[in-house]
Amino acid sequence: MPILTIESTCDETAAAVIDEDGQMLGDCVATQESLHEQFRGVVPEVAARAHLERILPVIDTALRKAGIRPQSLSAIAVADRPGLAGSLLVGVTAAKALSVAWQKPLVAVNHLHAHLYACQLASDIDVYPCVGLIVSGGHTSLYHCASPLDLRYLGGTIDDAAGEAFDKVAAMLQLGFPGGPAVSRLARHGNRTAYQFPRSMIHEDHFNFSFSGLKTAVRYAIVGPGHQDFSKLNLSDDEKANLCASFEAAVVDILVAKCVRAIHANQSDRLIVGGGVAANEFLREELENAAEQQDFDLVIAPLHLCTDNAVMGAIALEKIKRNEFAKLDLDITPGLQRGF
Ligand code: KG4
Ligand code: ZN
Repeated sequence: MPILTIESTCDETAAAVIDEDGQMLGDCVATQESLHEQFRGVVPEVAARAHLERILPVIDTALRKAGIRPQSLSAIAVADRPGLAGSLLVGVTAAKALSVAWQKPLVAVNHLHAHLYACQLASDIDVYPCVGLIVSGGHTSLYHCASPLDLRYLGGTIDDAAGEAFDKVAAMLQLGFPGGPAVSRLARHGNRTAYQFPRSMIHEDHFNFSFSGLKTAVRYAIVGPGHQDFSKLNLSDDEKANLCASFEAAVVDILVAKCVRAIHANQSDRLIVGGGVAANEFLREELENAAEQQDFDLVIAPLHLCTDNAVMGAIALEKIKRNEFAKLDLDITPGLQRGF
C-alpha cells in the first residue's frame, strides 16, 4: 500500500504519494518564491502562513494525481527536522491530524537524510555505503552514510551554506530570488578567472566549509568596503557575468576538493550529492570530472529532486522497514546539533 509524504521545512509546501517500491504515484509542490522575492530571502512568518493556506490543497492534489483514496494509504510521513519552526509546525501538525483522522501510522523523516535519499531514488543500485554531500540553501555538510538512516557527520559549514552565498551574491547583483539559478545562468557567459576569490580552508585537512569570506570578497569586488547601496550600481552584463563565473568557480572548487578529500579519508568509492545547489550545472560537471579522474562512482540527485520536494520523503519506507514509527506527541526539531 502507498504512503503519503509531506514536506514543509522551508518555503516549499509539498506532498507526494509513493508506492511500496519507492515509485512516485503523484506529487505536488507549491513554491513560495514569488512571496519571498521582494525580501531577497525567505521570511519565516510569511513562509509559515503560506504553508497553512496551501498544505491541504497540496495534499489533496497529490492524492488526486495518484488516484489514491486516504483509506488506501499505509502511513503518513512528514519531515520533522531541520527547518524553520513555523514551517515545520504546519507540516507536522497536518500529518498528525490526518494520522488521527484516517487512522494511519505516522513516520518522521529527517529532511537532510531525505535530500541524500533522492540519489537512491535515481539509481538502479544500492548507493549505500557512500560519502554524502548535502548542499542547499540552509546546509552544506558531508557525511559518511552506512545506510539511508545511519549517517556519520564528517563536517559542514561553520558560517553560511553554499546556497545562501549564491542567494546573497544574487541579491548584491539584483538578480532576484532564489539566486542560485540566476547566478548560474549568468556565469555561463563569464570568465571564471576574472576575479581571484578566496577558497577558504580548501587545503585544510578537515571537512568543514566557510563561505562568508567569499561572500564578503564578492561584495568588496562590487562596491568596495563600507559602501552599501547596491541599487545604484551600474554594472555591465559582462561585469556581472564575470563576477558570477568567478564566484561560482570558487564555490565549486571548494565543494569538489572537500568531497574528494572525504572520499579518500573514508576509503569510499562512491559519492552521492543532494540539495538545491546540486542542481548547479557547473558543480555537476566538475564533480563528474573529479569522479573520472579520481575513479569513484558519482550519483547526483536528478534535477527535479534537488530542491525541496516530498518525493524524497520516500526514505520513510526505510523507517517503516525498521518499524520506526512516530507517536502523536511528535514535536518539531528546527535546529540540529552539529550534523544531526
Ligand atoms: O534544497 P533547497 O530547495 O532548500 C533547502 O533545504 O535549503 O535549496 C535551495 C537553495 C537556494 O539557496 C538556491 O539558490 C539554491 O538552492 N539553488 C542553486 C541552484 N538551484 C537552486 N544554487 C546554485 N545553482 C543552481 N542551479
Ligand atoms: Zn532542503
